[in-house]
Amino acid sequence: MKAVQFSEYGGPEVLKVEEVDEPHAGPGQVRIAVRAAGVNPADWKRRDGFFREIMPLDFPYVVGFEAAGVVDEIGEGVSGVSIGEAIFGLGARTTAEYAVLTSWAHKPDDMPFEMAGGLPVVVETATRSLDLLGVKSGETVLVTGAAGGVGSTAIQFARSRGATVIGTASEPKHDYLRELGAIPTTYGSGLADRVKALAPQGVDAALDLIGSGLVSELIDIVGNPARVLSLVDFSAPEHGALFSPTQQEHPERALAEAARLYSEGALRLQVEKTFPLAQTAEAQALSAEEHVTGKLVISVP
Ligand SMILES: NC(=O)c1ccc[n+]([C@@H]2O[C@H](COP(=O)([O-])OP(=O)(O)OC[C@H]3O[C@@H](n4cnc5c(N)ncnc54)[C@H](OP(=O)(O)O)[C@@H]3O)[C@@H](O)[C@H]2O)c1
Repeated sequence: MKAVQFSEYGGPEVLKVEEVDEPHAGPGQVRIAVRAAGVNPADWKRRDGFFREIMPLDFPYVVGFEAAGVVDEIGEGVSGVSIGEAIFGLGARTTAEYAVLTSWAHKPDDMPFEMAGGLPVVVETATRSLDLLGVKSGETVLVTGAAGGVGSTAIQFARSRGATVIGTASEPKHDYLRELGAIPTTYGSGLADRVKALAPQGVDAALDLIGSGLVSELIDIVGNPARVLSLVDFSAPEHGALFSPTQQEHPERALAEAARLYSEGALRLQVEKTFPLAQTAEAQALSAEEHVTGKLVISVP
């Protein structure tokens, strides 16, 4: 089968579409014929060698953590899913014609494969973040970097939990944030004043998707470091705030909730652009500019 892989750290040019052996579903896993695989910042960060000290890669490394497609192999001990069903979920080596998933949910019939392929990572991340922050109905949450994949999803899950969301994005993306149910504001200096004007009653929790020294400012805004979580700033715990690097234990529950919210019209994901497998390098280069709205997705015929 064809897969997108690299054999050395480097820029987008190290990515190659190559013939590799097909994977097979082990116990507790399923294999899908991939129709769409999401692109995440972690893809180009790993390729660049950003995590090489803490998490060295085995080469050749096939990229991707998520996909949607049609089940064509079922591993031992798996129930509740049949050959030929459309699912979306998390796995490894997913930017390929076939991929093994370790957690998944049924794809609603009317959910496009491109959207389903881009949802798993951001759904897992957004729900984990809101759980760690303990976001409850009636609370107000501030999300920085709200127009990207994780932010777009976190807004909608927080809204479904009954919270009010203030999100930061550049001005042209404010209508997009409003459509998702958030109150938009710009980023940059003066954030605390802008947030205070939008939420005079105060902000209960903050989710940082940007880093760059924002954690201290967010702690001042929230007034309680234990209710500030950064997904990007490793130093957050030094300030008493939270940092979360690892997946939740049962992501399939969050994926099933995402499917339900989609069917109720309460969750969507904007796919900014789709690319064929052969253009994964272009997709990762665009993601690395860090201005994607929603997600980028690789479409597999
Ligand atoms: N720790 C974990 O488990 C975990 C899991 C998933 C993701 N992450 C990390 O979380 C971050 C967000 O992921 P993602 O997938 O949502 O990324 P993404 O989709 O690439 O985010 C792009 C968005 O970031 C916004 N942005 C860029 N600079 C900004 C700034 N200074 N202030 C506010 N918004 C800004 C852009 O909006 P504008 O165009 O308006 O600037 C754009 O819409 C990434 O760094 C990713 O690696 C961590």
